[in-house]
Amino acid sequence: MIQIQNVKKAFNNTEVLKDISLEIEKGDIFGIIGQSGAGKSTLLRCINGLEKYDQGSILVDGTKVDIKDKKNLRNLQKRMGMIFQGFNLLERLDVYANVALPMKFWGIPTNTPEAKEKIMNLIKLVGLEEKVHSKPRELSGGQKQRVAIARALVLDPDFLLCDEATSALDPEITKGILALLQKINREMGITIIVVTHQMEVVKQICQKVAFLSQGKVLAVGKPEQLFVWPKEREIRDFLREESDKLPETGVNLKLFFFGEGNQRPIVTMMSQELHTDFNICWAKLEDFREDVYGSLVLNMDEKDLEKACAFLDSKNVTWEVIK
Ligand SMILES: Nc1ncnc2c1ncn2[C@@H]1O[C@H](COP(=O)(O)OP(=O)(O)O)[C@@H](O)[C@H]1O
Ligand SMILES: [Mg+2]
Repeated sequence: MIQIQNVKKAFNNTEVLKDISLEIEKGDIFGIIGQSGAGKSTLLRCINGLEKYDQGSILVDGTKVDIKDKKNLRNLQKRMGMIFQGFNLLERLDVYANVALPMKFWGIPTNTPEAKEKIMNLIKLVGLEEKVHSKPRELSGGQKQRVAIARALVLDPDFLLCDEATSALDPEITKGILALLQKINREMGITIIVVTHQMEVVKQICQKVAFLSQGKVLAVGKPEQLFVWPKEREIRDFLREESDKLPETGVNLKLFFFGEGNQRPIVTMMSQELHTDFNICWAKLEDFREDVYGSLVLNMDEKDLEKACAFLDSKNVTWEVIK
């Protein structure tokens, strides 16, 4: 487990991490999302000791990440594989040698039968057995990221840290990479931290997410809780939510459907029961991992509001009046 407690960090007197506290459980795929400049990469680099923090503490299974304690840090870093937007492969080495690189770095022999088997198994895991002897320039972006993933796994890490790993890839390729990360999480039990500015990434694979803004954690929770119905103005803005486009007369009531019950004809039923019409002025359906979550906004007369809310309560539909 990773415990981040009251972490602060400044670059040249500018605070870029302001009192960050987070807990990342073993086995999770944990997302850290936010605008560019929010401090996501800095936080990730503090977690694996590439960057020092000024105050607070970061504990990995109880061991403090402390860049002055070189021996401990090296051991912690061995347990954390990392992948980046830019892949960071060595151009003169082929796929096999790129994957083997961390073993070389750690003085682990790479020509034993066990080492070869391990490297080949990882290359198979990421689906590149046909490209073992290709150089990075002969690979597509998605394939390069697959090499980087295999390389990040070669020392048997407990954690995989991903910094904008799919931001340079197109949507279809991104889906494949995310499916691979999910497989690694499920089958190898590796805890994954995903730093991204892409909502799609969080929706597809994260079980938990923290929304970072200007060096602070603005909200943390399940993606569906945070994003289908964000209470924070800033998260709405980030998602370019509905609030600018709604009618200014009457009241706007937002209905929220979790998973099951999505298909129930609530609006029609309510319209019939209350003998009035509602104007549906905004709606969306979202996939979060395996579930579908929906929300819609109804515009109605002020006088109908109370009855409508009572009806929705009786049907266990969550609602909110949008101000
Ligand atoms: N090495 C550095 N020196 C000075 N400022 C930095 C450095 N790295 C990042 N910053 C600043 O810290 C802030 C957070 O950056 P970063 O963590 O890269 O954000 P994100 O990954 O969310 O886009 C930005 O304002 C950035 O300019
Ligand atoms: Mg970044």
